[in-house]
Amino acid sequence: MVGPARPRVGPELNELAIIEDGAMLVAGGKIINVGRYADIKLFIDSETEVVDAQGCVVMPGFVDAHTHPVFGGNRVEEFEMRARGKSYEDIARGGGGIQSTVAKTRAASEDELFESSKRYADWFLQCGTTTLEAKSGYGLTAEDELKILRVIRRLNKETELNYIPTFLGAHAVPPEYKDRSDEYVQCVVEQMLPAIASQKLAKYCDVFCESGYFDVADAKKVLLAAKELGLMPRIHADQLTRCGGAELAAELGAVTADHLEQTDTTGIKALKRANVQPVLLPGSVYALGKSKYPAAREMIEAGLAIVLATDFNPGSSPTPSIPMMLSLACTQMGMVPAEALSAVTVNAAYSLGLGDRVGSLQAGKDADFVIHDCADYREIAYFFGLEHAQATYTKGGKVIAGRSQTLPFAPSP
Ligand code: NIG
Ligand code: FE
Repeated sequence: MVGPARPRVGPELNELAIIEDGAMLVAGGKIINVGRYADIKLFIDSETEVVDAQGCVVMPGFVDAHTHPVFGGNRVEEFEMRARGKSYEDIARGGGGIQSTVAKTRAASEDELFESSKRYADWFLQCGTTTLEAKSGYGLTAEDELKILRVIRRLNKETELNYIPTFLGAHAVPPEYKDRSDEYVQCVVEQMLPAIASQKLAKYCDVFCESGYFDVADAKKVLLAAKELGLMPRIHADQLTRCGGAELAAELGAVTADHLEQTDTTGIKALKRANVQPVLLPGSVYALGKSKYPAAREMIEAGLAIVLATDFNPGSSPTPSIPMMLSLACTQMGMVPAEALSAVTVNAAYSLGLGDRVGSLQAGKDADFVIHDCADYREIAYFFGLEHAQATYTKGGKVIAGRSQTLPFAPSP
């Protein structure tokens, strides 16, 4: 994935800079050199530990740029209700949806949330993800939002995953503020944001800009206040309805506009003018049984530095699997495997301000990489419904992942 020091656009998304018979020299948690084995082997001395990847694909750890990984309980009952024909929107209007997870998250202690989230951290690592953008948003009181963000900070310290925290206090109006959403927005701005900024608990601020949740005016209030405090905006935009989220992202100079299922050409042009990165979340379209995926091809043709992410959450997208997103991008969104891969590595890394550290295997970057048990990178999107990661290296160590622990890799003839 070596290339220019910026996110990839247009035809560049296809340029993976694959090295056949490659090798990589790593020391002190950093990549020292990458090239052909014939050249790199000259650096091997008696101190060097040699890892033979045996013809497998070695690539940067996936960067998942949109997740909600800390929550109490789960929503398997709602999953069955949807299977029986109810819609996500109906369930939310009936008091389920985000509110049901909020109730369970408030009831959970910080330790309980840490333990359940640690289990999900393992899942991400097993899929080959090493960096995660992690949103709060299931607390919706100052105390509970801070609790979630502290859990994210602890996960970052105590697991092998790298977490980048985002404050999403404006995820839904909690029941105690029913019909007083203005007062809730005021609470987010005046109480939550200053506390989070002063404790440095979040790098970004997000808002669920959607009818029935927060309108453009509310979202703008929250994100402008966040910017003042140094938290850069990311926005849940145009997921269920076309309500102006893309244009707002452009107006505020947001780092990303996420979802965009309903965004049209006008919205795409606005994103392009302001250089906002689209973060597309096909897992939520799939898991809600919908069929309108975001217009990825039009966005690529418009020159946007597209990102794909899981949106891991208990309601609309209960999957940690980036390989599943690669499959959906290629089968439902008209993307080719190379474009999809750029969107979950280098482009995702830049969307989190980490382009100089992760997202490509390049001298000077972190030794943050995955050995996938296949001989061609396209197999990761092609053989779907299973994980290919065999070993994941991150934070200076090795995490053993998937199936090759029991099944030795045998290249096909
Ligand atoms: O990105 N859209 C808002 N937030 C999540 C869903 C949250 C939930 O249903 O719990 C999303 O899809
Ligand atoms: Fe989301």
